[in-house]
Amino acid sequence: MQKTVLITGASAGIGRALAFEFAARGYHLGLTARRVDLLQTLRDELQARHPDAARRIEIGALDVDQASQVAPTLQALFTALGGVDIVVVNAGVNRFTPVGKGKLEVATALIQTNLIGAIATVEAAVEHFVTRGGGQVVGISSLASLQAIPKQGAYCASKAAFSMYLDAARIELKHKNIAVCAILPGFVLTDIMPKMEKYPFAVSAEKAAKEIVTLVEKRKPRGIVPAWPWRWLRPLLGHFPDALWRKLA
Ligand SMILES: NC(=O)c1ccc[n+]([C@@H]2O[C@H](COP(=O)([O-])OP(=O)(O)OC[C@H]3O[C@@H](n4cnc5c(N)ncnc54)[C@H](OP(=O)(O)O)[C@@H]3O)[C@@H](O)[C@H]2O)c1
Repeated sequence: MQKTVLITGASAGIGRALAFEFAARGYHLGLTARRVDLLQTLRDELQARHPDAARRIEIGALDVDQASQVAPTLQALFTALGGVDIVVVNAGVNRFTPVGKGKLEVATALIQTNLIGAIATVEAAVEHFVTRGGGQVVGISSLASLQAIPKQGAYCASKAAFSMYLDAARIELKHKNIAVCAILPGFVLTDIMPKMEKYPFAVSAEKAAKEIVTLVEKRKPRGIVPAWPWRWLRPLLGHFPDALWRKLA
């Protein structure tokens, strides 16, 4: 049976690439973001690539910063799609937040989006899955949850907190037939930050999306993307010499 996936932050970058990858594997899609014009273009592109009348693609405007709006917006989409099997909690931002440089507002807003917005999305997804008797939550965290990056402290903190939240949710929800998967991408070439290509082992959003969807289909509890070389470097993350990361800042 064709499954249905809902992706937040689908208008660009990894979320957009995930939409193409899930579509190629036959999924029905729910796509959300703030820039609805980009979602409309994405839906047109997906329909042109997969002219399959049976495939459902629903789009919806969602700003995860409006935490109280997340549940009602997602519930409406879940209903329009006839139920959803997988929710990918992907919407997120990054900003430089050098310490002691007057960036408190920037840091607060970032944490609102990446942590509070993400938790609000997980909450809505799990409520839906409980009524359906199961489902899968996929949280897009980051390698930055394991490795501190200078001038990106708020981002690292938001992702470390989100990873921990997902780990707790996984334990809590297992007996309800709800799987929780934490994806930790390394560096992916998107517009999230300038000069992503200067970061080590950066890969395209398409390559990242392929690996992510494969991990999701295997219902893995955690996954690092790209697997090579990060899976092998993982024990070293957090233990590299500080000078190495200072050079990147
Ligand atoms: N690129 C990387 O190297 C990398 C590495 C590790 C983890 N990640 C994580 O992967 C996820 C996607 O990042 P990306 O690189 O694809 O970034 P991106 O290209 O900038 O895309 C971010 C997506 O999130 C959406 N978004 C941002 N703020 C939002 C809000 N308040 N409400 C709803 N949607 C919002 C954006 O849509 P609208 O602007 O249209 O709302 C956009 O679709 C993020 O969680 C990021 O932290 C990325």
